[in-house]
Amino acid sequence: MQASDRPTGYINELTFTDRFHRELSPAWLNYVAMLNGIPSRDFRQPFTYLDLGCGFAQSTIVNAAAFPNAEFHACDFNPAHIEAAREHAARMGVGNVVFHATRFDELLEQDLPAFDFILMHGIYSWVDAAVRDTLQRIVARHLRDGGLVYLSYNCLPGWSVEAPLRKLMLEISQATPGDMVARVQGALRTTRHIGNPSFRYFRDNPVAVEAVEAFSKDPVNYLAHEFFNGTWKVHYSVDVADDMANAGLRYVGSATLADNHPMLVMDRQAVESIAALPNQRLRHLAEDFAVNRRFRRDVFMRGTRSESGRAPGDAVRILDDAVIGQVPGHDRLGSRVTIPRGALSFHPDFIDDLRALLAQGPLRIGDLIARLGPSSHNPMEIRQNLLFLVASGALMPFALTGGEGRAA
Ligand SMILES: C[S@@+](CC[C@H](N)C(=O)[O-])C[C@H]1O[C@@H](n2cnc3c(N)ncnc32)[C@H](O)[C@@H]1O
Repeated sequence: MQASDRPTGYINELTFTDRFHRELSPAWLNYVAMLNGIPSRDFRQPFTYLDLGCGFAQSTIVNAAAFPNAEFHACDFNPAHIEAAREHAARMGVGNVVFHATRFDELLEQDLPAFDFILMHGIYSWVDAAVRDTLQRIVARHLRDGGLVYLSYNCLPGWSVEAPLRKLMLEISQATPGDMVARVQGALRTTRHIGNPSFRYFRDNPVAVEAVEAFSKDPVNYLAHEFFNGTWKVHYSVDVADDMANAGLRYVGSATLADNHPMLVMDRQAVESIAALPNQRLRHLAEDFAVNRRFRRDVFMRGTRSESGRAPGDAVRILDDAVIGQVPGHDRLGSRVTIPRGALSFHPDFIDDLRALLAQGPLRIGDLIARLGPSSHNPMEIRQNLLFLVASGALMPFALTGGEGRAA
């Protein structure tokens, strides 16, 4: 069998859902890097971006429109995805995306530019070991020094209850006659039926019963790609970090922004227990247990872009360069915001002043502090409040892309 004939196990007979993912924005990933001590990229300079397994590429097309001086590449082996994505980009007048209707192992061999960003959203848990190996080789070969990789995946321990449920549904679907839609629907029907309390697994794990009910409300094509691939694997974060280390990368932070602020996701006792563990690898793994995490959006970096901690105040200077703002038309900036552990409240005067400043457009954190600070507040407190507002989703990371503070 030739390499190009090798079945990948991934389903191809149904298209995926067409969704926008804000975490795939270069501005968002740059912000993750800055939160973790890496100086900002200069978005006035051209850059390159590769979306692996792009589906309908909605996120890539929107980002390409926002960064017209950058070169975007989007790859997917489902021709229906790429055909629709090409049409979408043409309709939007977006000309800076190169589409590759090809498999990852074929892409690996192509003559590609060095990339500043490589993204894999919803890929790593849904392909087999050989494909994951190919993805590592693409990253090793095609990511530029200082470039960022975004890699999302299902992780343990959060999936430990439901992983057996997926196995049961998959096996039932394989014994169900009909096309993919019929098999998925049949598997759900049967699983709901047998998910009654007489099965000890369901009795002992009420979460699994709730999960089956929730799946029943999802679109069939989403479920098919999510659970009914022959290949599906939940990972431990440290093993994924090892995979990326093999490709020459190190972990930077999380594109689930709140996860970069332990106090927003776990209680003080958990923070202290984790801090007392003997090494960074263990602390990384233990965080997933502290929050029973089931999905990660990891950001990795190759190489030598300078880091903070080299001189006192570097980390703060880097953070003050981050550009944040409100999404026009989405006024979510209230004095109370939701975070994973509950809610945070801010002084209404602070929020009013902030809202007035950001009504003009996104601003650097340093400039916001200077303009909010003169009265009674202290800069450290304001900076932390701003970071927490971004982590909650009330504010967003932006990038300055040109003269006169044009932002994306
Ligand atoms: C779960 S979907 C995620 C799509 C998109 N990234 C998103 O999150 O909306 C996985 C995508 O990877 C593509 N894919 C899977 N295996 C592939 C391979 N070996 N080569 C190229 N594309 C692949 C599928 O066609 C599918 O569009």
